[in-house]
Amino acid sequence: MPLDLVTAGESHGPALVAVVTGLPAGLRLDRDAIDADLRRRQEGYGRSPRQKLEQDRVEVLAGLRHGLTLGSPLALVVSNRDHANWAWGMNPWPPEGEPKGKGTTPVTLPRPGHADLAGVRKFGHDDVRNALERASARQTAVHVAAGAVAKALLGEIGVSVAGTVAEIGGATTVTGWKQATDEARADRDTLGGVVEVRADGVPPGLGSYAAKGDRLDARLAAALMGIQAVKGVEVGEGFALARKRGSEAHDEIEPDLLRATNRAGGIEGGVTNGERIVVRAAMKPLPTLMRPLRSVDLDTGEPGVALVERSDVQAVEALAVVAEAAVAWELAFAAREKFGGDALVDFVAAHAAYLERIRWPHQR
Ligand SMILES: Cc1cc2nc3c(=O)[nH]c(=O)nc-3n(C[C@H](O)[C@H](O)[C@H](O)COP(=O)(O)O)c2cc1C
Repeated sequence: MPLDLVTAGESHGPALVAVVTGLPAGLRLDRDAIDADLRRRQEGYGRSPRQKLEQDRVEVLAGLRHGLTLGSPLALVVSNRDHANWAWGMNPWPPEGEPKGKGTTPVTLPRPGHADLAGVRKFGHDDVRNALERASARQTAVHVAAGAVAKALLGEIGVSVAGTVAEIGGATTVTGWKQATDEARADRDTLGGVVEVRADGVPPGLGSYAAKGDRLDARLAAALMGIQAVKGVEVGEGFALARKRGSEAHDEIEPDLLRATNRAGGIEGGVTNGERIVVRAAMKPLPTLMRPLRSVDLDTGEPGVALVERSDVQAVEALAVVAEAAVAWELAFAAREKFGGDALVDFVAAHAAYLERIRWPHQR
């Protein structure tokens, strides 16, 4: 069975849920490691006060016994502490008593750049909140939990994945990021940035060139573009390659099959080539501005300004963690596809036998 992930959950609903299927039995999960990734997602210089309130922790409802996967669906839950303040407004059932807390009045002023206007039109909602609650990047918390599970599986075959920040608001140093964030906050504006994810120890031969949906570069691009606010993806040197000559763009093959350069970012023909995987994702500035942009009241048709709701100035550090989880998930998917196995030992043995057959990495 292929690795699969289904998630559910609204930003201020009771909880976020992920169901992971297709894991081998016998994989050891470390609760602290999952919680550490959840915490990393919440950190960052430009985050809103909500992150202090949430303090995300994973709960496991199924598929795990004494820390080992059972080979059955794994059910992960991350609770929304903030739901207590939205208990009336985001009640799954018709709420009883007088409206109280947050989310009790409909939102009618859509934010440019968010899913607000597209969402209410598409689904026929009267209240923009019915669209924004699911469109919100709060749901990335549970993707990070699933990514931590994927990293545990990859660790069994010696693969590691790490996401880092490359740019925030055009700045490329830590002091520059902070300064740009402080300036944007003072101006009640927002920023975007660029993150990079690297994966080491990935064997050659994951993915395929046989069909477009098999290409690992295509899958990684889809996974990264599937994250809120990501508007560009590069594999290896990406767009810069378009400005080079072929003689300067490709990675020559040395006698030991090593490459002196890695401009391809570890993927040729949609297949991993054994070099480090390098992908980058560009994030647009966040759409919720404390000095809101022009909008229209969907109730009255009158011009107005967009919804202002507690929001991050920038979330690029968080994106690095979410992108790391997305890349880990795709690599774990491709590894399950190639090495299979119902029990973890079968998966690990298939990986070892394959490396033996291709004499990797001894042949390098
Ligand atoms: C980790 C993370 C945190 C985000 N935080 C915010 C936020 O606080 N405020 C906001 O307006 N958008 C935030 N976004 C971006 C919006 O969720 C996103 O722009 C929106 O869902 C519309 O989707 P699109 O930008 O892909 O078109 C965040 C995105 C990520 C990945």
